[in-house]
Amino acid sequence: MIILAGSSVPKLAQQICQDTSSQWGLVQIGKFPNGEKRIYIETELVGETVVIVQSFTKPVDEHVVELCLLADAAAQAGAKRIIAVVPWLGYSPQDKLFRPGEPVSLHVVAKMIQASGVTDIVTMDLHSGQAFNFFSIQTQELSALPLFTKYLRQRDLSDYVVISIDEGSRRRSMHLSDELGLELCTFNKKRDLVTGQVELVHVSGEVSGRRAVSFDDFISTGSTQIGACSQLKSMGLLEYTACVTHAVFAGSDTSQKLHDSSIDQIITTDTYPVPSHSDFLKLKVITSSNLFSQHLVQNYQ
Ligand code: R5P
Repeated sequence: MIILAGSSVPKLAQQICQDTSSQWGLVQIGKFPNGEKRIYIETELVGETVVIVQSFTKPVDEHVVELCLLADAAAQAGAKRIIAVVPWLGYSPQDKLFRPGEPVSLHVVAKMIQASGVTDIVTMDLHSGQAFNFFSIQTQELSALPLFTKYLRQRDLSDYVVISIDEGSRRRSMHLSDELGLELCTFNKKRDLVTGQVELVHVSGEVSGRRAVSFDDFISTGSTQIGACSQLKSMGLLEYTACVTHAVFAGSDTSQKLHDSSIDQIITTDTYPVPSHSDFLKLKVITSSNLFSQHLVQNYQ
């Protein structure tokens, strides 16, 4: 396999290259004077299996286009298979028509990816299962669950419960509670569409006097996790750990807000590079490299 790195997560791409003992493809990524992306692949790709590692981090649209240009360049250069490893599939929350007048953005992005010559797409913890309905190429969703459970098993989990903070995270939370053998407490989420404030509606389970862990796909503004934690603590919860696969941290103040919040720990992965504040000690980042590498070795080597 030959690994081509887009400009979004170069460290993760390097780690995947090392873990899979693949060849590092030489790529020049620049811009034309008018701002358009300029791609040039130096490595010979005829008949090769090419893995393009590109997460849809900020600037999102630029990284989407970059992946498509890299895939087209690889196809023109004779690659026999082009696997896109897209750790965070940006636009995946836009997977349906929320209001007439809006696009189904993920559908558009899926068409772009496929048209550019990508034959397989591998991603992690999608926002919802229906995202892959838009793809007709080979798809695979991995999960950060084994990374989180391995880390959490180092603790005494005897007074822990798993909190499902909304309907979207129910499937993930059930897997976490099954894996760790912990009770599941369920909530539904109500978000004020004007202020973004989050309120949890209790459905089942006792949190008072216990410690809790949750498992969600991403943090954007942080409102969900911060709101959930403060409400749970007001119900008597002693400690709250949030496992979140993608640290999107959309606002410039998100990491500060999370740092200042009552959340005790946030465990995340490197699918989205997090701002490195040396004092953000409650943030634990675990690399997702071995999950992607294992999948690539088992299926494509
Ligand atoms: C919602 O369904 C998602 O899984 C996340 O919980 C949520 O959208 C994160 O957004 P924010 O951090 O802005 O609350």
